[in-house]
Amino acid sequence: MRIVIGSDHGGFELKQQLIEHLSAQDHNVIDMGPDTPDAVDYPSIAFKVSETVAGNKGDLGILLCGTGIGMCNAAGKVRGIIPALCTNEFMAKMARKHNDANILCLGARVIGLELAKEIVAAFLCNEPQMEDKYVRRRGMIDEYERDLTL
Ligand code: RB5
Repeated sequence: MRIVIGSDHGGFELKQQLIEHLSAQDHNVIDMGPDTPDAVDYPSIAFKVSETVAGNKGDLGILLCGTGIGMCNAAGKVRGIIPALCTNEFMAKMARKHNDANILCLGARVIGLELAKEIVAAFLCNEPQMEDKYVRRRGMIDEYERDLTL
């Protein structure tokens, strides 16, 4: 799977660890930065990763910052992106199955590496199972977004 990943300084170390972990599983990991732990404003990375996923140059995305909140806020502004901030496996599973989320947001100051690996695994291995009601609700979000940007 092509996984697009990015972080700010708060998520940098966990990003590097997840890249190593996912690469060892033969995923194609596309690292959108940063390359150093120096401070970087999270929206710039969130937009890069989100636009790459929205442009179908990656299958799913992972964004990390201190809490995951800033990344989730920024990613949600990109048309075609449904971000999900997850702190456990159940949230990650449901984000894929019922929300059709395409970017997972993680808080590196909230969870540790082992839990992050479990959450990522749940996000990657579950497919959307969109019953009519979930499609309708997702469609309401898309429609609102479309009306806003007309
Ligand atoms: C950076 O200090 C921190 O604000 C950022 O990583 C993130 O938690 C924002 O939501």
